[in-house]
Amino acid sequence: MRVGLIGLGRIGRFHAETLARRVDQLIVADADRNLASEVAGRLGATAGDPWSADALVIATPTSTHAGLLLQACEQRIPVFCEKPAAPTVAETLQVAEAAERCGTMVHIGFQRRFDAGFAAARQALLGGELGALHRAHLLTGDPRPPAPEYVPVSGGIFRDCHIHDFDILRWVTGLEAESVYAAGANRGEAFFAEADDVDTSAALITMADGTLVTLQGSRYNGAGYDVRMELAGTLATWAVGLGARAPLHRADDGAFPEDPWPDFQTRFAAAYTAEIEAFLATARGEQDSPCTVRDALAALYLAEAADLSRRDGRPVQMAEVTK
Ligand SMILES: NC(=O)c1ccc[n+]([C@@H]2O[C@H](COP(=O)([O-])OP(=O)(O)OC[C@H]3O[C@@H](n4cnc5c(N)ncnc54)[C@H](O)[C@@H]3O)[C@@H](O)[C@H]2O)c1
Repeated sequence: MRVGLIGLGRIGRFHAETLARRVDQLIVADADRNLASEVAGRLGATAGDPWSADALVIATPTSTHAGLLLQACEQRIPVFCEKPAAPTVAETLQVAEAAERCGTMVHIGFQRRFDAGFAAARQALLGGELGALHRAHLLTGDPRPPAPEYVPVSGGIFRDCHIHDFDILRWVTGLEAESVYAAGANRGEAFFAEADDVDTSAALITMADGTLVTLQGSRYNGAGYDVRMELAGTLATWAVGLGARAPLHRADDGAFPEDPWPDFQTRFAAAYTAEIEAFLATARGEQDSPCTVRDALAALYLAEAADLSRRDGRPVQMAEVTK
């Protein structure tokens, strides 16, 4: 299989290494041609036209996703695109409709679906081991804030960061949300407030079956990169992300890991590899898309509801934001 890869920044370079070891030919491209040549030379890939390949991976900035996805749909090239499918609901709907009209396979990159812990929790819950789910908790703590210039174009903490929590919540539980009541605070540098964003977040999400979900986030989680989920049912409680590298001081015995998770690249390295392997299997026609544009849209609706709730200071019904 010949695979094209557009965008060789933080995440694109990681995907390039995975792809280079697994496909017959990898054709890389970046707006920075020198970067494309450098990556191609290092990995034995080709710097060239990615649109000539049998399948395409998009890892460019979010603002470019919709245009590239629409082109891939029209050309009927199976495509993997980093999250989010697009920054706005209108563009995401446009891409979903194009994918369905053209019958093009689109896989959106929510890599937590390929993390062993989240997958095991989902299997246990859906297999009945937890009994009836009554409550869940989600947490994402970034060790340090993104670059100040990225914050105004990020879409805000709910669209940029918690979109992963919203997707994994739907995927693990198989439930849809009914309402969101979110809050935010600015505890750090001024550029978050200047961009009308927050660096600290919390939300209460009520699922359609009555399950209560709490969510917390921080751009200043100094202990390390911390992603966790807890699922409490009538028979058992399962936790994801409490492994040996969880960046937590255990007050009871004073323990702290020697090498706490430093960043998302390290924490989810195996998941990023597994999702690209899944994309290749999907592009070969062996399975359906593991995360469709409609899934990305559902996560974006949750982010829209959370952002609106945080701004208005009131609970928002999902029906207010879905189209
Ligand atoms: N799934 C995850 O956990 C995860 C993590 C990081 C980033 N992302 C997503 O991946 C995307 C890229 O993020 P990043 O941090 O790697 O960005 P980045 O800025 O590090 O890299 C983007 C690269 O794309 C290139 N580029 C820009 N416009 C281009 C165009 N039109 N054609 C070709 N190349 C172009 C840039 O030169 C740059 O090398 C974003 O949408 C982001 O949301 C997802």
